[in-house]
Amino acid sequence: MIAVRTSTRFLTVSSATEKQSIVIRDIELIVEMREVESLQKKVWACDDRDLVPLTMLVATKEVGAILVGAFDESSLVGFAYSFVGYERDRAVHHSHMLAVTPSYRNFNLGYKLKLAQRERALAQGITRITWTFDPLQSLNAYFNFGKLGVLADRYETNFYGEETSSFLHQIGSGTDRLWVNWPLDSQRVREKMETVASWKETLGEPEQIVSLVRVSADNLPQRNDSAEVLGQEKLIVEIPADINTLQREKPELAARWREATRWAFTEAIASGYLIDDFYGASRNDQAVGVYVLSYGKKVKDFV
Ligand SMILES: CC(C)(COP(=O)(O)OP(=O)(O)OC[C@H]1O[C@@H](n2cnc3c(N)ncnc32)[C@H](O)[C@@H]1OP(=O)(O)O)[C@@H](O)C(=O)NCCC(=O)NCCS
Repeated sequence: MIAVRTSTRFLTVSSATEKQSIVIRDIELIVEMREVESLQKKVWACDDRDLVPLTMLVATKEVGAILVGAFDESSLVGFAYSFVGYERDRAVHHSHMLAVTPSYRNFNLGYKLKLAQRERALAQGITRITWTFDPLQSLNAYFNFGKLGVLADRYETNFYGEETSSFLHQIGSGTDRLWVNWPLDSQRVREKMETVASWKETLGEPEQIVSLVRVSADNLPQRNDSAEVLGQEKLIVEIPADINTLQREKPELAARWREATRWAFTEAIASGYLIDDFYGASRNDQAVGVYVLSYGKKVKDFV
């Protein structure tokens, strides 16, 4: 058992204020889609072969893909891209990319791009958006679960193979991903949208939940292998607050985190857990990220 005082924010993160001059709108022009290619290279530092090229953007848009941009006057500073797919026998949008140029981050633009994507999917009669992210990235985890209200019951090992050129695909080892579902019209997501402004400033109550993996004082993953763990109503899986610095400074430790979280999420999902929350916590002045897993809940209960 551990006691952690929950905090919805990481101590190092500055407050997100609005950038009023930015316009969120559909990307229609060829010249703007070239900017989408450039922004992919800038944000993910990837090779040309790992880009989604203009031709795919044009073709998929013709059959329902959503491509929205954040523009500062005529400059593209962020975009979201999703295409239509099928999951669990239903049409969904699969969001393949969301990016905001570094100097425009933490101004709520990523959030506004997701809201614009949500509106457009609902207008097409589609009520779920799926996407994947690296569960070791605390920012993305907080953004997805904390700000948007996604749910996850699927873990993909080496989703994009062993590696790609994107910096986001070089953490730990492999390209493992959590597959998330965003139930657009659910009460859960509506409530999240109504409360996000005040929610992010609050401090939660201390929690007493068994952890499957926890962060030790020296940032090592500590697994809990005891047999009774996977019978609890709720579990937590902790991650380091900043995996990117760990990757730079101690890549072997980042690889241990990949192994530990791969084990934890795979075991928990196979045992019937749903990942339904993430928050930042502080234990003895050490910032950690905390996933909350609930037993017996299903994504379909929220759709
Ligand atoms: C993910 C991304 C699109 C978010 O864009 P953004 O415009 O900064 O997003 P927002 O401002 O709406 O929200 C970011 C939130 O993360 C928080 N945050 C920032 N750094 C964080 C960290 N290290 N850990 C946890 N949360 C963090 C911010 O405080 C903000 O939350 P708040 O509004 O409650 O304060 C942007 O960081 C990005 O382009 N990243 C690289 C590409 C990527 O990861 N894409 C998404 C793949 S799923």
